[in-house]
Amino acid sequence: MLTLNPSDLSTAELQNYLQYAIAPRPICFVSTIDKAGNINLSPFSFFNMFSTNPPICVFSPARRVRDNTTKHSLENVLQVPECVINIVNYDMVRQTSLASVEYPKGVNEFIKAGFTQLASDLVKPPRVAESPVQMECIVSRVIHLGDNGGAGNLVIVEVKRIHIREDILDENGKIDQAKIDLVARLGGDWYCRVGEDNLFKVEKPVRTLGIGVDSIPLAIRSSHILTGNNLGQLGNVEHLPADDEIAQFQSDPELKQIMDATIGDSTNRERELHQYARRLLEEGRVIEAWKALLS
Ligand SMILES: Cc1cc2nc3c(=O)[nH]c(=O)nc-3n(C[C@H](O)[C@H](O)[C@H](O)COP(=O)(O)O)c2cc1C
Repeated sequence: MLTLNPSDLSTAELQNYLQYAIAPRPICFVSTIDKAGNINLSPFSFFNMFSTNPPICVFSPARRVRDNTTKHSLENVLQVPECVINIVNYDMVRQTSLASVEYPKGVNEFIKAGFTQLASDLVKPPRVAESPVQMECIVSRVIHLGDNGGAGNLVIVEVKRIHIREDILDENGKIDQAKIDLVARLGGDWYCRVGEDNLFKVEKPVRTLGIGVDSIPLAIRSSHILTGNNLGQLGNVEHLPADDEIAQFQSDPELKQIMDATIGDSTNRERELHQYARRLLEEGRVIEAWKALLS
């Protein structure tokens, strides 16, 4: 294990470790405006939502590590406390990166990066027409985290209006996680694309009270075949199958085959049952996996 103290590292080294580890980060593409009416557009991946009621997001234009100067986006929100958070999808990612070039103050990155300005309803900065979700926001507070290069500035904003492109909605009018085609920032030049190929679901255990991994019998819990994810699935059930349910499952053809082939061979039987349970778990058949394990 490599163990590090931030105080022993340069800011650039520390930033490298943190940005590779704290990833992927969502990207907000922020449009702002200064008092003179100059429009700015810049991406920030130090960004997230922190509250739904009220709807609060935070992004952080940091002081530049190179020369400790501040970013135009920060200067603008201090002058005009409004912005639009535009969500970035795959089709926009390279133009978004272009908008992060350190153009001189007053240069409009909508024009440099080739995006279309769309007038906002409630705030002065325009929206990015190409963005699938555009959120008009009022800046409620800016918190400066330090005076040196790399110091963040938390721009705390309240979302006042949300515009969503209809082609990313499902039949219920909700955002389809695959259709929105999000991208996120990782370390260095790495990005990831969130598409159908790498999306998966983990059931939210909000309405259930799983038995917990500690309640799984030791022989199963200490299995060399079942993974941590498998134990998470097994521990998420509220109760184990009853004896009669396990008895009924004995007619399952694959289980029967394992049982017949391992008569008098408890070591192999356990191994094969665990392998079978693992396959069932990978198919999401948690109760059947329990029945196989308790056979
Ligand atoms: C995808 C992406 C994410 C970025 N995230 C941040 C960030 O969270 N904080 C930051 O200070 N700079 C970040 N940058 C760099 C800024 O976008 C860049 O410094 C930009 O030029 C600032 O523009 P401004 O001075 O016009 O506000 C990011 C760049 C890219 C391409």
